[in-house]
Amino acid sequence: MRAYELIKAKRDGGVLAAGDIRAFLDGYCSGEVTDYQMSAMCMAVYFRGMTPPELGAWTRGMLESGEVLDLSGIPGVKVDKHSTGGVGDKVSLSLAPLVAACGVPVPMISGRGLGHTGGTLDKLEAIPGFQVDLPVAAYRRLVAEVGACLIGQTATLAPADKKLYALRDVTGTVESIPLISASIMSKKIAEGIDALVLDVKTGSGAFMKTEADSRRLAESLVSIGNASGVKTEAVITDMEMPLGVAVGNALEVIECLDILKGHGAKDLVDCSIELTIRMLILGKVAVDRADAERQIRAAIDSGAALERFRLIIEGQGGDPRVVDDYSRLPAAPSRFAVRAERGGYVTRIDAELVGRASVILGAGRDRVDDVVDPAVGIIITAKPGTPVSAGDAIFDVHYREQAKLDAALALIGRAITIGDEPPQLRAIIVGEVR
Ligand code: URA
Repeated sequence: MRAYELIKAKRDGGVLAAGDIRAFLDGYCSGEVTDYQMSAMCMAVYFRGMTPPELGAWTRGMLESGEVLDLSGIPGVKVDKHSTGGVGDKVSLSLAPLVAACGVPVPMISGRGLGHTGGTLDKLEAIPGFQVDLPVAAYRRLVAEVGACLIGQTATLAPADKKLYALRDVTGTVESIPLISASIMSKKIAEGIDALVLDVKTGSGAFMKTEADSRRLAESLVSIGNASGVKTEAVITDMEMPLGVAVGNALEVIECLDILKGHGAKDLVDCSIELTIRMLILGKVAVDRADAERQIRAAIDSGAALERFRLIIEGQGGDPRVVDDYSRLPAAPSRFAVRAERGGYVTRIDAELVGRASVILGAGRDRVDDVVDPAVGIIITAKPGTPVSAGDAIFDVHYREQAKLDAALALIGRAITIGDEPPQLRAIIVGEVR
């Protein structure tokens, strides 16, 4: 295999043979193919795309770069959920205990935030002591005993993705449907799951900004999953505005605990319930949507889902007392209210700008090795559709450093639009692909 020839072939619109793709990926993992050659290949794929057989070979190559877990010894249909990434998307934290409390085991390998999007692992680590780097044996035991375990990618699970994602992030090659598809599905298939529900985000805060592109991504993900024997479906959900009210790690943990206590913003509740319904049906514990909704309501009203979150926290080394006492979570020393300059209706809050502002405050990373501040973030006190008078608070910014606040405010100011009429808001559930 000559890496140079394969890069040129893809650059010129050629179709690569499965064996060549495999050799290229294996060469990348062993170091024979360099970062600059892989960057060039990703850019060629970004512009030229991949045929379905090429994508199948690329995904298989990434999957087989590491081990594929076998969870068949754990009773029940193992179901996971994965989001393509958004702002304020904390759904996994409340969904995993809720689904587990309804009897479906949830093995979940999650990611960190990068760019303007947040990551489940960073949010969980806001809980004092919570461990996301568990060995596979502990992960397997917790899925069996507690019903859910949320960890990060290990060195042995789809290691090609770990290396490749970091490279794509700094070479402008993240927003490619085949590369995102192979990245997500190689990790998910390696987890040992039987079924998967995908939350494909669409809008300003998502990697796919248009509904058409998000649908294409959803179709690509679903077809790879089903072809690999993982029963897969996707829900396309709105990411024009941040999901829920909190953006920032500890603040989002609190919002998730509130959801499990039966409260929460309508868009976040609706999104979480829709994904949970599908997981319960795929997990074969609910016969239809009405049955699933009834079980979800019972798990929340009885406190079973909250109790399950407490067990997950305890099982993963965290302080379970945060469930009842939010003061045990990190808190920022200072707060600043961003106020409406005029009266009217909040018509738009741009998700990407809010996400970028939260990264500037310290809630996310500019570089993979940046350390996240779990305490800082933004609470939206007036979601789109809310009538406001001049001077009403729209954001409550939790910050640590004045210079970072000033830089974040420059973006936050541009994120808000106030108009005279109430906006026509898109429903949170935009579509589905099965
Ligand atoms: N999430 C992933 O895991 N991979 C991508 O490429 C994009 C989002």
